[in-house]
Amino acid sequence: MIRVLFVCLGNICRSPTAEGVLRVRLAAAGLDTQVEVDSCGIGDWHVGKGPDRRALEAARQRGIDIDALRARTLDAEDFGRFDYILAMDHDNLAAIQAQRPADCSAHIGLFLAFAERPDEAVPDPYYGGDEGFARVFELIEAASNGLVAELRKKLQVKLRGGPTAR
Ligand code: 4NP
Repeated sequence: MIRVLFVCLGNICRSPTAEGVLRVRLAAAGLDTQVEVDSCGIGDWHVGKGPDRRALEAARQRGIDIDALRARTLDAEDFGRFDYILAMDHDNLAAIQAQRPADCSAHIGLFLAFAERPDEAVPDPYYGGDEGFARVFELIEAASNGLVAELRKKLQVKLRGGPTAR
């Protein structure tokens, strides 16, 4: 099992969208039983709440249902549990790095690196309009495609290696 955690500020716009998109892409690739996906936020303002209605609507228009997701914050256990901890922007990344225990071996980085946009952020859409949510979706789709390709490669290497290869 490979575990992926998306991190944004509030866990109501960008990271739940990424969680929803990646879940659908993994299912389409037949990898959904081998990859676990979750999302969380740095701030606790929206803990327990569902995604922002604009994020819900942007996803719904593209056939993705993120209605059941509920916001939570990043916690210490996440660093031992997840293999990929992917930040939406540089502030999120700095906050993750600040909480990272010394013995954490997870890949920690910006999500858009998987869209061949190294060092670029998924812009925070919270205080903007609907076009910001459309842009968020577009960037997340591109990075999800790249991430699925990476995960497929990793899983094939594991399969090929068989049970004795560690
Ligand atoms: P997100 O967007 O980090 O993509 O979930 C935000 C949601 C809420 C706030 C900021 C960004 N906020 O300030 O409450």
